[in-house]
Formats: sequence, C-alpha cells, structure tokens
Amino acid sequence: MEPVTLITGGSSGIGAATARALLKQGHRVAVTGRDADKLAAFAASAEAEAGAEAESESETDSGNRLLTINGDAADPTDVAATVRQVLDTWGRLDTVIANAGFSLPGTLEDHDPDAMRAMVLTNVLGPALLVRETLPHLRESKGRIVVVGSVAGIRYTPGNLYSVTKWAVHALVENVRLLVAKDRVGVTLVAPGVVDTPFWDERGGSPQAAPTLTAEQIAAAILFAVNQPEGVDVNQLVVRPTGQLG
Ligand SMILES: NC(=O)c1ccc[n+]([C@@H]2O[C@H](COP(=O)([O-])OP(=O)(O)OC[C@H]3O[C@@H](n4cnc5c(N)ncnc54)[C@H](OP(=O)(O)O)[C@@H]3O)[C@@H](O)[C@H]2O)c1
Repeated sequence: MEPVTLITGGSSGIGAATARALLKQGHRVAVTGRDADKLAAFAASAEAEAGAEAESESETDSGNRLLTINGDAADPTDVAATVRQVLDTWGRLDTVIANAGFSLPGTLEDHDPDAMRAMVLTNVLGPALLVRETLPHLRESKGRIVVVGSVAGIRYTPGNLYSVTKWAVHALVENVRLLVAKDRVGVTLVAPGVVDTPFWDERGGSPQAAPTLTAEQIAAAILFAVNQPEGVDVNQLVVRPTGQLG
C-alpha cells in the first residue's frame, strides 16, 4: 500500500506544494486547514492536476489519494479527530508534516493579545499536539516527522514574537528526536528563509526587493528528508534563497 502522509496547513503555500509533490510520487495525503473553502479549492485543483496526469499516462484510475480535513492545528480535539480520520480512512500513518503556522505583522508591541495567543498556540502547541497524537502510529510504521521551522528560529529580530515561536519549534524538534530515536522514527527540521506564499499577504505581499524561494523549492527539501532510505535520518535543513542575508 502507498505511504500515508498527514500535513497540517496544506491548503496553500508550502503545505499545498508538498501535498502536490507527494501525491505525484504516489503517497496518500491528508491535509488540514481552518478555512473549508480554501481546502475545497486546493482539493479541486490538486485533483484536476492528478486527473490530467493520469490521462497523459493512459491510466484509468488516479485513485482517491487526497483527503482534506477541516480543523485547527492548535485544538487538541481537532488534532485527535484528524488523526483518527486518517487512520479510519487508510489504516496507517507513515509521515507527518507539522507545517501549519502564521506570523503576525509588526512587533509584540503592536499585537493584539488574543492574536498573540493564537499564533503561539498554532506555531508551538500545534506541532507538539500533532507529535503527541501520531507517535504511537509512527512507531508502528517506523515513520518520519518533518516540522517546518524558520530562519526566524535561528536569529534574533527586534520584538519578533513569531521568531520566539520558531525558536521553540526548533527546540521541540530536537527534543522529539531524542525521544523517538530509539524507535527508529525519523525527525527533521526544515527551516526556510523567505518563501513567496500567502504567508506574506497580511504584510502586503512578499518583500519587494528581497530574494525569495518558491513553495515548490521548500517542498523539494521536505521530500528530500521524507525520501531518505531506511536507516538515514536527515535532522536539519536550513534553506535560504541565494542572496538572503539574515
Ligand atoms: N513563507 C515564508 O516566508 C516562510 C518562511 C519560513 C517559515 N515559514 C513557515 O512555513 C509554514 C507554512 O507557511 P506558508 O508560507 O506556506 O504560509 P501559508 O501559505 O499562509 O500557509 C499556511 C497554511 O497553514 C494553515 N493554517 C494556519 N494556521 C492554522 C491552524 N491553526 N490550523 C490549521 N491550519 C492552519 C493555513 O490555512 P488556514 O488559514 O485556512 O487555516 C494554510 O493552509 C508556516 O509554519 C510558516 O511559519 C514560512
């Protein structure tokens, strides 16, 4: 049976590009997101793409390999229900990609406290809940965990609470690796520099003069980790666009 991958925050950007790439290589993929319309739009375009490809390869059945699940990565009940749905649908779990996250524009002086809470819970509690809920199944499959951190998690920026959440995520990844290494579960941190995705929408689009990566380029880094042979565990990938200084 094809490997099963669960991606949080897969309706746009890096998560969506990773889902498309994994579908292309034959995975069964479940993606989550809070906005049901965005998820439906992603599913429609991914399925159209898969259908066109199957036709060009003269296959008759592109298979039902994409599952979209509406839920909040920071909500324990949603995370448990998501994992249950994936297992009920496909009976196994091989890879989880903790990708859902966002950044508030401005500094912590400008932030609304409720928005601060939502960002900390999504970016930090979210990956921890996902790991907690999926570990028993990954131990069984000897699977892999990939967590999307950020270059913001290895450098300091004035008043940047998002950066604090990513420093925490980076610590989580290494602490999880130490927890599960003996179980032969792989753990990888992928820390992107600036990537041109809807992540930047609230800041008026990606930085004009700055070099950027595409979501597909980060997806390729994630697939590099996921596709390692048994016995090989890539632990950290920091990927910047050439020319990014910070
Ligand atoms: N773009 C960059 O320059 C950059 C750089 C370094 C790291 N990253 C990291 O890369 C990851 C993906 O970001 P992206 O650039 O691909 O941004 P994006 O296009 O905005 O994608 C974020 C995805 O996460 C979902 N999401 C956000 N909060 C969620 C929650 N609480 N529960 C479930 N889903 C949630 C969004 O859908 P809904 O809003 O519908 O929930 C969307 O599908 C994030 O962790 C981000 O911190 C991005």
